[in-house]
Amino acid sequence: MNNPNVLNLVPDPQLLEGAVAAFKQAYAPYSRFRVGAALRTADGRVYFGANVENASYGLGRCAEQSAVQAMATAGAREFTDIVVYSEASPPASPCGACRQVLYEFAPDARVVCVNQDGEILSGLVRDFLPHGFRLEQPEQAEAVAE
Ligand code: THU
Repeated sequence: MNNPNVLNLVPDPQLLEGAVAAFKQAYAPYSRFRVGAALRTADGRVYFGANVENASYGLGRCAEQSAVQAMATAGAREFTDIVVYSEASPPASPCGACRQVLYEFAPDARVVCVNQDGEILSGLVRDFLPHGFRLEQPEQAEAVAE
């Protein structure tokens, strides 16, 4: 993704710290591959996610999806930045399913994947998922006020 056609970004320090903290909470006894994610909403809130695996392997949840679930559950509907931290080289890049989940809320958000050595893979969500699927007017898009 680090080519002349896409943005070369650096991780936001607050999000990097959060992604590393989430990484440390990952539950990955099967793959032994931990991932942490932190995102910032359009109004400045930060949410975190880690991968959470299951003995029924297909039920595992990626870090990016966990972060989006936390955001949406809190009533937020848009984010501007997400940092994904792993100890892989090159750094773990969101899987195809996660790209679509990110795209639902923020096709223009910045994505920065980074590892312990500071290697970076970055771009917009739409760079990671060209031609992502989106309905024009999803129903019940807004969180319901108390
Ligand atoms: N995983 C993530 O959480 N995010 C990624 O970007 C790549 C993969 C998780 C899924 C699974 O728990 C483990 O990493 C190995 O695939």
